[in-house]
Amino acid sequence: MGLKLNETKNVAAAAAAGALFFLGFLVSSVSGSVSYDSRAITINGQRRILISGSIHYPRSTPEMWPDLIQKAKEGGLDVIQTYVFWNGHEPAPGKYYFEGNYDLVRFIKLVKQAGLYLHLRIGPYVCAEWNFGGFPVWLKYIPGISFRTDNGPFKAQMQRFTTKIVNMMKSEGLFESQGGPIILSQIENEYGPMEYELGEPGRAYTNWAAKMAVGLGTGVPWVMCKQDDAPDPIINTCNGFYCDYFSPNKAYKPKMWTEAWTGWFTKFGGPVPYRPAEDMAFAIARFIQKGGSFINYYMYHGGTNFGRTAGGPFIATSYDYDAPLDEYGLERQPKWGHLKDLHRAIKLCEPALVSADPTRIPLGRYQEAHVFNSKSGACAAFLANYNTKSYATVSFGNNHYNLPPWSISILPDCKNTVYNTARVGAQISRMKMVQVPVNGGLSWQAYNEDPSSYDEESFSMVGLLEQINTTRDASDYLWYMTDVKIDANEGFLKTGKYPTLTVLSAGHALHVFVNGQLSGTAYGSLDFPKLTFSESVNLRAGINKIAFLSIAVGLPNVGPHFERWNAGVLGPVSLNGLNEGRRDLSWQKWTYKVGLKGEALSLHSLSGTTSVEWAAGAFVAQKQPLTWFKTTFSGPTGNSPLAIDMGSMGKGQIWINGQSLGRYWPAYKASGSCSECSYAGSFDENKCLRNCGEASQRWYHVPRSWLKPSGNLLVVFEEWGGDPNGISLVRREVDSVCADIYEWQPTLMNYEMQASGKVNKPLRPKVHLQCGDGQKMSAVKFASFGTPEGTCGSYREGSCHALHSYDAFNRVCVGQNWCSVTVAPEMFGGDPCPNVMKKLAVEVVCS
Ligand code: GAL
Repeated sequence: MGLKLNETKNVAAAAAAGALFFLGFLVSSVSGSVSYDSRAITINGQRRILISGSIHYPRSTPEMWPDLIQKAKEGGLDVIQTYVFWNGHEPAPGKYYFEGNYDLVRFIKLVKQAGLYLHLRIGPYVCAEWNFGGFPVWLKYIPGISFRTDNGPFKAQMQRFTTKIVNMMKSEGLFESQGGPIILSQIENEYGPMEYELGEPGRAYTNWAAKMAVGLGTGVPWVMCKQDDAPDPIINTCNGFYCDYFSPNKAYKPKMWTEAWTGWFTKFGGPVPYRPAEDMAFAIARFIQKGGSFINYYMYHGGTNFGRTAGGPFIATSYDYDAPLDEYGLERQPKWGHLKDLHRAIKLCEPALVSADPTRIPLGRYQEAHVFNSKSGACAAFLANYNTKSYATVSFGNNHYNLPPWSISILPDCKNTVYNTARVGAQISRMKMVQVPVNGGLSWQAYNEDPSSYDEESFSMVGLLEQINTTRDASDYLWYMTDVKIDANEGFLKTGKYPTLTVLSAGHALHVFVNGQLSGTAYGSLDFPKLTFSESVNLRAGINKIAFLSIAVGLPNVGPHFERWNAGVLGPVSLNGLNEGRRDLSWQKWTYKVGLKGEALSLHSLSGTTSVEWAAGAFVAQKQPLTWFKTTFSGPTGNSPLAIDMGSMGKGQIWINGQSLGRYWPAYKASGSCSECSYAGSFDENKCLRNCGEASQRWYHVPRSWLKPSGNLLVVFEEWGGDPNGISLVRREVDSVCADIYEWQPTLMNYEMQASGKVNKPLRPKVHLQCGDGQKMSAVKFASFGTPEGTCGSYREGSCHALHSYDAFNRVCVGQNWCSVTVAPEMFGGDPCPNVMKKLAVEVVCS
């Protein structure tokens, strides 16, 4: 406890005596300015409690980056964490791309400009619900390659790309050892479970990857997440919903949490997960009280899987993640604010946290304290109540403390509570999507893709081809076409009992066309990407044209043996109910075409859109499959984030001015159970869900910077039929803001005022309300000081209610962008029920 940095280092060195590897690190770490010990990462000799958040640069636009980083800073972050997305940077072997939203150096420089640090997770395997886990698909075709194991061709590629990135960072002076913001790097990603599966080659690969990374001499520490046997000097770190139970593999490594999941990703066909702010804060406080010194929110801003970057299969285009900053870059309240308050509370404890190990003191059956007592006299305490149902009153020091269920109180001086994880002081914001009026509405034109057109690009062979090997992921789409001869004597031609066509596909979605007509659709799900189509088909005497459009919906991003995954119609394909019984079509001649005609013509782009005749009028609304739609519109004024409402459509892709917004699939409704969810109790990704029975994703983010003042080209490719007249442009805005605060709820402000000697008695908490940029509060929808019930959007009065609850808000808030009101009886006309614990609930409309 309380060791000085040098002492700790000596202990560490002694513990690792003989481990050349570690000594090598020690030598380099002496010159570097970032190091670590058992307690924390140290920067310039100073131990730090570091709060970090993931923002993946390609999931937003460079125009959004400064604002996102600024909001992260205001939210109390010290560090931004990102993966490096190999397949975005090297689309073809040796052909690099570091522009637009892949301008990694620009992103890191913005982080530095904001005064924040950066954690660079090079991977280069990243998982991340990103197409193919970040691997370029061309890697698959390097002879003899086997991914993420002790395999020469793979290791050579991984080393080449990792070195390229490290050298790029070095040449830009971006490592902290060079005066840059990068304080940490990561090699591989959650390899532990994979290594366990692979055995010896897995272990050899881990050691190789560690040595290779350390050998690059970045001057800053490396981490490996979810990798219990990470070799020295690499720090093994934890990922999960909770990580308090975690310990690093050596006593001289700090306890770090590289992925504190703020929610979870959405898949097409699944409900939308969310994680209550109270539980998120509880998990973080629980980690810190057990000696954790680095936490990273995964995600702090999730953003959007533009283009075909979503992994999968079936990962949705929105990667919102219920993160503190929503997909559009707006603050998600109360999560953003509640965590901001948590970070301030933790920072007040920092002097004690970095210089002492916690002492645990039991306070009750489900209650305990963790106390950090430093030699220099700093003291910080965390009081926890793990009971999920009941409040607890505990005594600690000379005081009593009331702890709500499943909560932790933070006492930066071991005496005064400044924060409780279950008492949210931040405002709650309800968001809305408002239709943007477009002059005369969007007027659409349509172009129909012929379902079975053969052209120079098509080729034929006997048997069924695997899809990824055939398309190399240049397109989501692969056509499988064949002819079926039906004899005039077939019995079904008389009975009308049509034969059944059965198609087995490895995924992910399939549209079946018979003689040019869509005869059915089938698709898998994230949990089971394979699909079977089995329906009766309308065949006629003579030659019938059967065409399958097989569609990939993002390549897998997790699992072993990336080289073996496949998709598409692998068969068998058969017809049942013919005179001969069953006819196997798998081994007849098939004609293939990669991609759509419209893709080949670049119909989505400004230059390509003129290459075909588009139809207008009634035809547009006919819900034809395989239709391209286009329209133009003027860029809306204002600054609110924009989206396209695709509620009336089926499945396809969207482009604006040639840039892909991603895949859309509102016709895939969310199945699952979306019952009430309490913040209390262990969280997992299935606990709190929204949108059941509705589209998994209805709105698709349109970055403002992709629009021009006028003449914006919007192109939609619809696979199975939708009505584009239902498409509209919407802006995302705050609908109303709420607060729900107890009288005497602890506040940081109160503590800071007392600590600075400005006041000497406890202060009442304050409600702070703020509408979005450019908005004003137009009406008080609800206000009650007393015992109000319900949640934001549906508050109601309880048995105790101060008659003048509305007055202060009407006076102070209406007409303003923000306001604050003290939660004290005199503000509401006096105490309506003395000796009862009261709170204030208020909802104010923004417009
Ligand atoms: C982790 C992985 C991340 C991400 C996350 C789920 O296991 O490291 O990249 O995939 O799961 O969102």
